[in-house]
Amino acid sequence: MAFTKSQRLQQLPPYLFVEIDKAKRAAVAAGKDVINLGVGDPDQPTPKFIIERMHTATEDPKNHRYPFDEGVPEFRRQAAAWFARRFGVTVDADKQLITLIGSKEGIAKLPLAVLNPGDVSLVPQPGYPVYNAASIFAGGQVHHMPLTHGNGWLPDLDAIPAGVAKSARLMFLNYPNNPTAAVAPLPFFAKAVAFAKRHDILICQDAAYSEMWYETPPPSIFQVPGAMDVAVEMHSLSKTFNMTGWRLGFAVGNEAVIAALAQVKSNMDSGQFNAIQQAGLAAIAGADRPEVAGLRDMYRQRRDALVDGLTKLGWKVDRPAATFYVWIRCPEGVDSMTTTRRLLAEANVVTIPGVGLGKPGQGYIRAALTVATERIAEAVERIAKVNF
Ligand SMILES: Cc1ncc(COP(=O)(O)O)c(C=O)c1O
Repeated sequence: MAFTKSQRLQQLPPYLFVEIDKAKRAAVAAGKDVINLGVGDPDQPTPKFIIERMHTATEDPKNHRYPFDEGVPEFRRQAAAWFARRFGVTVDADKQLITLIGSKEGIAKLPLAVLNPGDVSLVPQPGYPVYNAASIFAGGQVHHMPLTHGNGWLPDLDAIPAGVAKSARLMFLNYPNNPTAAVAPLPFFAKAVAFAKRHDILICQDAAYSEMWYETPPPSIFQVPGAMDVAVEMHSLSKTFNMTGWRLGFAVGNEAVIAALAQVKSNMDSGQFNAIQQAGLAAIAGADRPEVAGLRDMYRQRRDALVDGLTKLGWKVDRPAATFYVWIRCPEGVDSMTTTRRLLAEANVVTIPGVGLGKPGQGYIRAALTVATERIAEAVERIAKVNF
């Protein structure tokens, strides 16, 4: 059989990081001391109190069977209680909240519950690539909403053509934002909710970084009155608790949409291991523990080391208010790919070219604060020697 990939796979954009990945592997293989600011994966271990809960949960035979469809009820209740504490919003843990195998799972499956072939999906660019891929897999037509410095890295909803808005059924938002680190103010969410109501669009607000903030906790879209009519919000334990490998998150939102997502899930997966949900429950209950606040302090130190260091060198960098990303303007006249390539070749520092996450990311690179402050300081020293 001559295998041909499905058209839906062929529709995905080319992977732009091949060359950089290759150069990075070659540098590591050659024994170079590479500082990797490329990956958005916490370098610290999961806090002990969560691991301890996992140990006891694995001993309980009840947890060895198929998980509940909508997730362990106590996990959902704990998540709902946290939602009320954190955002002042009451949600029904049985009807408006569902456990996810990481927020990526919910993002990837939601379009199957919402879109019919040909429906438009509004996707921010630059952005997390899953919004685009999941929309395509569900037969959707993607309309990109450019995020630019000029609009504060928020999509300009007024610039969406009337015909596109009319055919749109789904809009992805992601605040705090990967890769730009922007935070959406509540009035922007209010505007998005009004737009969604006007055009009959479901908003999927990806809040995977909602707890990675530095000074002020960012809002939830559900702090906008009436948002529950038109929105779901994806939450994740991955970054907050250094649990990327555990695969745990939850979706909060409109009851009918949560039920439809549950229906997609029950046909495609069997939920997350109950013991992981038990450990997650302990994590969420401990969201205000010093271990978690300590992570925030650690990232703040790293952020300031990178932002202050690069600013002193003359780079244009905004100090992020949230996420563990720093979105850095490339030197004048140098594009994303060239900047990334040269930082790797001449400083052994790995970054992500902004253009790889979508065309409007051209002229920027993304650095993740996933190495120790001393390594960041070392990276800055090396970058100082690269003559752009
Ligand atoms: C914007 C954004 N959303 C969602 C995710 C997925 O997170 P999770 O580990 O909860 O699946 C990521 C992961 O990097 C991300 O950057």
